Amino acid sequence: MPRPRRTIDGIDLDRVPRHVAIVMDGNGRWARQRGLPRTAGHRAGEEAVARALDAALELGVSHLTLYAFSTENWRRSPAEVRFLLNDTERFVLRRRDEFHAKGVRMRWIGRRERRIPARVRRNIDESVEMTAGNRRLTLTVAFNYGGRAEIVDAVRRLAAAAREGALDPRRIDERAIARALYDPDLPDVDLFVRTSGEQRISNYLLWQSAYAELAFLPVLWPDFSREHLFDAVREYQRRERRFGRA
Ligand code: IPE
Ligand code: IPE
Ligand code: MG
Repeated sequence: MPRPRRTIDGIDLDRVPRHVAIVMDGNGRWARQRGLPRTAGHRAGEEAVARALDAALELGVSHLTLYAFSTENWRRSPAEVRFLLNDTERFVLRRRDEFHAKGVRMRWIGRRERRIPARVRRNIDESVEMTAGNRRLTLTVAFNYGGRAEIVDAVRRLAAAAREGALDPRRIDERAIARALYDPDLPDVDLFVRTSGEQRISNYLLWQSAYAELAFLPVLWPDFSREHLFDAVREYQRRERRFGRA
């Protein structure tokens, strides 16, 4: 007898994307519409993160990756950069107990440079350690992250191993590169979501998104709700993924 389909609001729970990656965009515009400083938009984005995470947990998504700060975001004003760096740290500190209680494992991908205050790095690392044993969902924060920087860093590592004689260059294949990325356990992206209506990748998860389904939503990030994630997943389930096959 066929198993009855398990669904929530029209979503087939047996075909949920395993890895959802989100470009949380539109905080500045959200704030401007209200006559507020851009930082107020970033602050308001925190509740949207909580809603996105709860929706992902409800559907049984196993990996949720959020773009918090890109390698290009250093081009913003020093005040906004400082706010974003500290805000990511404060966010992690404010929320980690709640995430831990929900069975969420936290990870960080990105360049661990000196430009990021040591305290910020330490607090993020601590949250990663604290939640390392959780298995329900992996929440990866892309922080000082760039897709090209990630590939450059991976290639450097492989080149260093080759120079030491530990790696035969002929054995460098897609698997070897994938294993040299910031988090070798991060699976390929199934569903790539960007809010704010912009339709671009902005250097996010370039390697991992090679065959992702793209969804561009017209909502500004602070207004993102459970229903928006559900809409994106329903859209994903209407797509036909081919991976090159006919
Ligand atoms: C996304 O919102 C947050 C980050 C990039 C950190 P923006 O700050 O890019 O908001 P817009 O695009 O200017 O509206
Ligand atoms: C991408 O958004 C980076 C993050 C959301 C952290 P941006 O707002 O920085 O991207 P662009 O500049 O519009 O491409
Ligand atoms: Mg933006």
